[in-house]
Amino acid sequence: TWQIASLIEREVEAIREYVGNRRVICGLSGGVDSSVVAALLYKSIGPQLSCIFVDNGLLRKGEVEQVRNEFTNHFKTDLHVVDARDRFLDELAGVTDPQQKRKIIGRVFIECFRTEAESIEDAHFLAQGTLYPDVIESGANADGPAHTIKSHHNVGGLPAELGFELIEPLRDLFKDEVRAMGLELGLPPELIWRHPFPGPGLAVRCLGAISEDRLVTLRDADAIVIEELHNAGLYREVQQAFAVLLPVQSVGVMGDARTYEDTLAIRAVETDDFMTADWYPLPYEVLQKMSTRIINSIRGINRVVYDISSKPPSTIEWE
Ligand code: XMP
Repeated sequence: TWQIASLIEREVEAIREYVGNRRVICGLSGGVDSSVVAALLYKSIGPQLSCIFVDNGLLRKGEVEQVRNEFTNHFKTDLHVVDARDRFLDELAGVTDPQQKRKIIGRVFIECFRTEAESIEDAHFLAQGTLYPDVIESGANADGPAHTIKSHHNVGGLPAELGFELIEPLRDLFKDEVRAMGLELGLPPELIWRHPFPGPGLAVRCLGAISEDRLVTLRDADAIVIEELHNAGLYREVQQAFAVLLPVQSVGVMGDARTYEDTLAIRAVETDDFMTADWYPLPYEVLQKMSTRIINSIRGINRVVYDISSKPPSTIEWE
């Protein structure tokens, strides 16, 4: 790790030199890349860093608290958490089309981010967690099929029109180097190894119309899937796993009563690059634990199914 330590030293020097005494805004997404950028900037320029985290109400369980804890208690950054949960819910009300959801979320995110960023006086730079593979992709292959099938939206995708000068300290790095750097900077391993999560968050895993109730259901079910994956020692065997709440009700029975409730799908995939992926054969005992816990403890779900589709022709996400 001395290579990583010296890489960090070089980055820190370069950032200090480039930024001088100006202020940098860093958008946090809860993911690895933006967290590493923020930690690196904090080490470089400390109080000249302001972080913005938009709570869109579409995050995984505990995510907001983790970001808050990491970037106010551990790294004492000037963290701005924008509570935009109601705003997103209102804008998404009644929307069922996946592309429409993505568009709305992308637009509202930028609006929220912009408003908060503009409230930070003397901000000059906007830091982005662009990695080397992103740089390559956005060049030669920008029109490749994987990029046009779904409109992707990232914290890294903020438009230039926000009017800040961009800095991208991870531009020359690969994911494994970013992870190593994050660990060396003192970010917790759980964060460094956390499965990727799409910008539109739970919205694209809550099929059909989104409501606060459905989001709570999905978030709780997802937390059980992830917890059981950890319990089985399989979290790092799969590259991504999650729950999907389907817009499908089916008949069940509880005691003497007939029920008519929601269906939840479990997804777990093995992949090198997320461009192709195989469904992962979770052991029956693990699936059984997930299913039993979800059905017993989450109100409104009476059926759990396992997604056994690979990409292509499926995608990893359902929307
Ligand atoms: P798909 O579903 O296209 O997903 O097979 C491939 C990988 O990309 C993630 N993903 C997204 N990430 N914004 C993101 O930042 C998005 O809109 C988005 N859509 C999918 C997905 O979670 C998987 O890791």
